[in-house]
Amino acid sequence: MNTLYFITGNKGKVHEATEKFRPLGINIRQKNLGYPEIQTDTLEDVAAYGVTHIQKQGIDHGFILEDAGIFIDGLQGFPGVYSSYVYHTIGLQGILDLLANTLKCTAVFRSVFAYAEPKGDPHFFIGECLGKILKEEKGSQGFGYDPIFIPDGSDRTFAQMDTSEKNQFSHRGKSLEKLYNFLNEKKFMKN
Ligand code: IMP
Repeated sequence: MNTLYFITGNKGKVHEATEKFRPLGINIRQKNLGYPEIQTDTLEDVAAYGVTHIQKQGIDHGFILEDAGIFIDGLQGFPGVYSSYVYHTIGLQGILDLLANTLKCTAVFRSVFAYAEPKGDPHFFIGECLGKILKEEKGSQGFGYDPIFIPDGSDRTFAQMDTSEKNQFSHRGKSLEKLYNFLNEKKFMKN
């Protein structure tokens, strides 16, 4: 099996990528190198900055990294690119409190993967998942906002799904699918 290095500190993301790629002959290996998450409006900018930072450290193999977030319509897209920070500060209950008086509970999860070689521009792969925010937490699997998000086409939260079911619906499942098609064309698996 070929190894693909995933630069992240998030074990949940690694688990989802591993489940998605294992049957396709790619072994995901986590590298928790850390990179600054700049303050900007788009996930692409955060991912691009991360790639440049990692390349400057002198990495000697190809790698992927991801920036993701949840954009809640009733909160004008908040927390969006700040999802990680907001999760670790006000948490899910803080988000539910902000939404207490709003009827608009639609939201979208976005994922942007970047694939890069030690030098050169990255390739981006984007996935989205539309859905709605619940009034309370449900389920215990997954991570982050999973207990309050129900994807369109299901009546259960991400936290009530196992990893392979979440991957069928999720933003990350979709961006990883595009990444896989790219790697397949590049003959990554046969290197
Ligand atoms: P980052 O991509 O590391 O900046 O993290 C984005 C944050 O968004 C995570 O820390 C989670 O709180 C949240 N998030 C991203 N993807 C998911 C997901 O699939 N489920 C639940 N929360 C997520």
